[in-house]
Amino acid sequence: MPVTPKIPTPLVEVRVRARRDPGVPDAVLVGHPPSEQSPAGEQLILGPGADEIGVDERWLARHRVRATAGSVQVVPLITARPDHGWLVGAGVGSTREWRAAGAALVRTTSAAGRRAPPLVQVHLPAGTSAQQAASLALGCVVGSHCYRVTGGGGGFAGSAGGGGFAGSAGGGFAGSAGAAPPPTTVVFIVTPGDRLGPLADAVARAQLLGRATGLARDLANTPSGLKDPAWLAGTAARLAATVPGLRATVRDEHWLAEHGFGGVLAVGGGSARPPRLLELAWHPPDRGPEVNPAEHLVLVGKGITFDTGGISIKPAEGMHLMRTDMSGGAAVIATLLAVGQLALPLRVTGLVPCAENQVSGSAFRPSDVVRQVDGTTTEVTNTDAEGRLVLADALAYAVRTLAPTTLVDVATLTGAMKVSLGLRTGGLFTSEPGLAERIQVAGEAVGEAWWPMPLIDDHADGVRSDIADLRQCPPGPGGITAALFLREFTAGLPWAHLDIAGPARAEESYDEVNAGGTGFATRTLIELACSFTG
Ligand code: BES
Ligand code: ZN
Ligand code: ZN
Repeated sequence: MPVTPKIPTPLVEVRVRARRDPGVPDAVLVGHPPSEQSPAGEQLILGPGADEIGVDERWLARHRVRATAGSVQVVPLITARPDHGWLVGAGVGSTREWRAAGAALVRTTSAAGRRAPPLVQVHLPAGTSAQQAASLALGCVVGSHCYRVTGGGGGFAGSAGGGGFAGSAGGGFAGSAGAAPPPTTVVFIVTPGDRLGPLADAVARAQLLGRATGLARDLANTPSGLKDPAWLAGTAARLAATVPGLRATVRDEHWLAEHGFGGVLAVGGGSARPPRLLELAWHPPDRGPEVNPAEHLVLVGKGITFDTGGISIKPAEGMHLMRTDMSGGAAVIATLLAVGQLALPLRVTGLVPCAENQVSGSAFRPSDVVRQVDGTTTEVTNTDAEGRLVLADALAYAVRTLAPTTLVDVATLTGAMKVSLGLRTGGLFTSEPGLAERIQVAGEAVGEAWWPMPLIDDHADGVRSDIADLRQCPPGPGGITAALFLREFTAGLPWAHLDIAGPARAEESYDEVNAGGTGFATRTLIELACSFTG
């Protein structure tokens, strides 16, 4: 019996309040002035509250404190609360550094376990901008994420440093005996004179983005023994039911057969766990003046719950990582939930074709020809290039039935993109320069980097087949030919293809990213949807 973790993972909560009395903070930020002011970058600026924990310039020099973003130094307090005075490096205060600082803070307080206070208070420096506060809050929320399935007696014992989930359906906050509950709240104390409202609004918004990222990480990290197509689609539908106005529809293999989803059925045909199509539909609640009736954004996410490669089987080494091959789908699910929670005045639909790419006597094979939703026939040349077959069906279905004005697909599509851009940057292919710009700006605002990739026409003929309309997997630059194949199903509509094979998974923690599924693309897609509203 596969264990069932509680999803979403509880995360740190951030609150904002005005400073009422001097108070002793738990954490104090320490930074460098921007480099043009201090070429050596060695001068340190202490945030408010330093005096109260007994730290001054001399103390900094004596302890050789560095303000590198993400470094945390423990101040041995001589107060009633030993062990939890933390100096948190925030570098020169870029948004990346503030995210890293928030994540480092919660990782350290979690590691301190019971010695950490239940409310961790950090004083914001005077003049902290809404963007900086949002970045710090985002870092705290996503930095606190930890997905673990433990045998500790049926509860959540999770912290960034240690615990995790035990498998009972009841969940809860029990944990195994002796496990320390994590600090669950970080309080930002606003300096007198700074306006609380804009900071509180920015922090609330950052928390929503952080929680969406956390959910996408949970779905990606869930082992495929539990996570089959029905589980993925069903879990999304269960979560959608908690958001008023968000409608989830799950189609089974019979419906898929009736409606001509030859790509999804071929890919899912080798598994004993049949494929599904998840559709999440958000209609703005009323036709108020702010509703943008002209736009219908359709997001399509790859939902391969495990990718063995099929008959074109993958090497054993590294295959286990393919449980995150539904990361694009997870980003779409988390985005639609956030769009509904924000009640955005814009129509948005998410489609996630879910299938397990398995090896068996019923698996599809190289040289098969499949018929996609729009009737196009595709010659299969490699069963490991399964993602484009399921995406093609979903894109064609969107074009046929949803009247999209903008189409965006997101997928862990090609190993080639990992080679091209590495593990921290997503590949951005699009038919529309304006859409590329919009996506890059959205990503920049929330700490996700996208690099524009070319749809080189020289390779467009490669996707033609001698025996069918299209060839699934032509030779040539892998990321580009995959995108050219998908373009065939977009009917010339404004479309972007986001290849997240690199950044969907992290091998180690950095900045606000923890090792494992990263939830990459979720925040960009939420920002993108927001960018279409007034
Ligand atoms: N899911 C993989 C792509 C992938 C690789 C994602 C590594 C994350 C990390 C995809 O289905 C795949 O196997 N693509 C093949 C395509 C090839 C057969 C043309 C690849 O990239 O090797
Ligand atoms: Zn594959
Ligand atoms: Zn795949």
